[in-house]
Amino acid sequence: MKTRNFLLPVATAGVLALTLSACGGGGGGSSSGGSDAASQGLDGRGPITYVQGKDNSNVVRPLIEKWNAAHPNEKVTFKEQTDQADQQHDDLVQHFQAKDAGYDVASVDVVWTAEFAAKGWLQPLKDKMALDTSAMLKPTVVAASYKNTLYAAPESSDGGILYYRKDLVPTPPKTWDEMMSMCSIAKANNMGCYSGQFKKYEGLTVNASEAINSAGGAVLDADGKPSLLTPEAKAGMANLAKAYADGSIPKEAITFQEEESRQAFQDGKLLFLRNWPYVYNLATTEGSSKVKDVLGMTALPGKDGPGASSLGGHSAAISVYSKNKATALDFLKFLTTEETQKFFATQGSLAPVLGSLYEDKDLVAKLPYLPVLKTSIENAVPRPVTPFYPAVTKAIQENAYSAIKGEKTVDAALSDMQKSIESASAGQ
Ligand code: GLC
Repeated sequence: MKTRNFLLPVATAGVLALTLSACGGGGGGSSSGGSDAASQGLDGRGPITYVQGKDNSNVVRPLIEKWNAAHPNEKVTFKEQTDQADQQHDDLVQHFQAKDAGYDVASVDVVWTAEFAAKGWLQPLKDKMALDTSAMLKPTVVAASYKNTLYAAPESSDGGILYYRKDLVPTPPKTWDEMMSMCSIAKANNMGCYSGQFKKYEGLTVNASEAINSAGGAVLDADGKPSLLTPEAKAGMANLAKAYADGSIPKEAITFQEEESRQAFQDGKLLFLRNWPYVYNLATTEGSSKVKDVLGMTALPGKDGPGASSLGGHSAAISVYSKNKATALDFLKFLTTEETQKFFATQGSLAPVLGSLYEDKDLVAKLPYLPVLKTSIENAVPRPVTPFYPAVTKAIQENAYSAIKGEKTVDAALSDMQKSIESASAGQ
């Protein structure tokens, strides 16, 4: 049995790279299929396709219309995927594997960068293809990079927010225990108390990691090794399991992804909701929303004070198989201009990647939650950075799901999670 390190240089800029030991063969982390492709099409101009998950916030189409009006010979077509992170991932993998020249620019979740870059599918943004990231929030740039090379343009960031009902909760909770003690208010109002995203998919990895981090634990330690066998990690996971068992997290929440949980909150069925900033726009503008005028936003609750969000967000990457990379690079630049980023923020309440916008007086007047969001992003904990992320997230999701549903004890779930992350490696 041979031990290998599949490792990234650990922890520059606060990112924990996962130290994986694995046995046997399996794909390494180096770029294979894409290295030749990466030298081609650099000057190509012409129509391109932009692939992204469901445009919940209705910002992509108007933006592309604007681009197309100004670039009649380099039009962008929008290929919209579903609203489910895992399906988006699998769709991109299939098209990259098929070397599809028709997926020119893809929106890449922060947790996919390492995997896709290691496979050689993403065009490195250097030399002729360089992109200036100096005005961007550092965590967004780190998340779009792999082995110190930038592989995508940070497009929107994401930090978890606790949404609450201002009409029913005069002072929002700062800790998990405080929030749980307020579940009596939910009960008195015949509504569910708390939900995040607890279906077995990427969102559960986000929520389980947040529960662990917010209780003072960590999925990985400072050396990038799984560290789930601690009292703090146990406390975090037990918080979710207990709340589900006693009904503070309503039973249907085990099927919720972002959109289902948003809908439940907007329908007045939840007192507290953990979700991303995009909810603000829809919850305050959709005609059917019952929470329009009573929407509160604050930091996720922690142990003794605010908790720690998982870092989310997306970056726009150019496929190495694109034939029109010069156009694609211009489109990436267009996605990151101050104007576009302001548009994303004001129209879709998406989190800007440009640091200056969080201090922009006009914007803060319009979107008063921006300081809460900035703190959430700055303190957010990245999920493990590894080319073998699919196996790692599976280990977290499956065990968190069993623990929440009470199918495994919290101890057994964490011990299995620890073991599976340790043995996670390509194709195994
Ligand atoms: C959001 C986040 C992304 C995360 C996903 C989980 O889209 O931006 O980082 O993986 O939710 O569902």
